[in-house]
Amino acid sequence: LDDLLAEGVSGRRVLVRTDLNVPLDKQTRAITDDGRIRASLPTLQALREAGARVVVAAHLGRPKGAPDPQYSLAPVAARLGELLGTEVPLAADVAGEDARSRAAALGDGDVLLLENVRFEAAETSKDDAERGELADRLAALADVYVDDAFGAVHRKHASVYDVAQRLPHVAGRLVAAELDVLTRLTTDPERPYVVVLGGSKVSDKLAVIEALLPKVDRLLVGGGMCFTFLAAQGHGVGRSLLEADQVDTCRRLLAEAGDRIVLPLDVVVAPEFSADVETAVVGVGEIPDGQLGLDVGPRTVEAFGGELAGARTVFWNGPMGVFELAPFQAGTRGVAEAVAAVDGLSVVGGGDSAAAVRQLGLDEAAYGHISTGGGASLEYLEGRELPGLAVLAD
Ligand code: 3PG
Repeated sequence: LDDLLAEGVSGRRVLVRTDLNVPLDKQTRAITDDGRIRASLPTLQALREAGARVVVAAHLGRPKGAPDPQYSLAPVAARLGELLGTEVPLAADVAGEDARSRAAALGDGDVLLLENVRFEAAETSKDDAERGELADRLAALADVYVDDAFGAVHRKHASVYDVAQRLPHVAGRLVAAELDVLTRLTTDPERPYVVVLGGSKVSDKLAVIEALLPKVDRLLVGGGMCFTFLAAQGHGVGRSLLEADQVDTCRRLLAEAGDRIVLPLDVVVAPEFSADVETAVVGVGEIPDGQLGLDVGPRTVEAFGGELAGARTVFWNGPMGVFELAPFQAGTRGVAEAVAAVDGLSVVGGGDSAAAVRQLGLDEAAYGHISTGGGASLEYLEGRELPGLAVLAD
């Protein structure tokens, strides 16, 4: 972005891809965590101050490739406008007639938000020509492209990948800041290096576990995904989340890892996932048949805390339990507090864990970095090529 600002952007139309994929309340559609909108501000402010005419493209949720009012970016446009201190109109389409006429009418320093790019099926299409046609229309809205959507750089989508091939392109401030920190995790991290992984699906995390195991001193596993590991150790897991087809892989990983993979010692169980249900803490070998494990227990929090206390580099991705409900919050809170207390670099990796930090009222400033990218930061740590970054590299 600095290169572009040095070149001068006054009066130029700049297409900025941002990740404004914020969680919304299911009933009211109100934004429940505006972290990603706030993270987009440095780039947008810098461009406005330099007199650019800013066209913002973003996705929200996973609509099925057609306009769907429940995935409209309208609440995001309103919040973005409040935070920028200027009105941010929302185009009625992605790159159609309304977007074109509104982009053409922008004045210096104005900001326009395009409607959810995933209202066009071509955005996520596997077909290069389909994505290319949408990318042509997006590119026609601007003179230059800024990719600031760190959370989406792992997606080979029209507004992330193809459009960058059609316009002069640079990385925005958020992408630069995220890469700065993630590079510190991949290049000679200070040791001990401890990674904490949680979240529901172990199958989503196996690739990153394989990639990280040779590099970390400890890998602490909690959340729904821990039950497949516990099953691999021979424990009964009751009605807890279990990916039976991954048990063998988890068993192999445990054998390879020796004492580097650390599993929970106890869990909070309940007969169902509900806020006013009776809960109990049991050892991992004692999960009753009819019960669900919904959080890690206090002995686990203490053990994980002990591992984290001595760490110099920490990456944490994924909640330890279903923290949305109070009875199952303590594990995530305990780990979040232990990560915050780390004397060294602590990185919270995106999505649910970043939302957990804010929703549990923890001090964001206590962390070295809170990434806006869940999947993107994991794929970066896996060492995979991320299309949205590869396309900027020329
Ligand atoms: C995210 O929420 O991780 C990003 O916004 C990407 O969203 P996606 O997983 O729906 O592509």
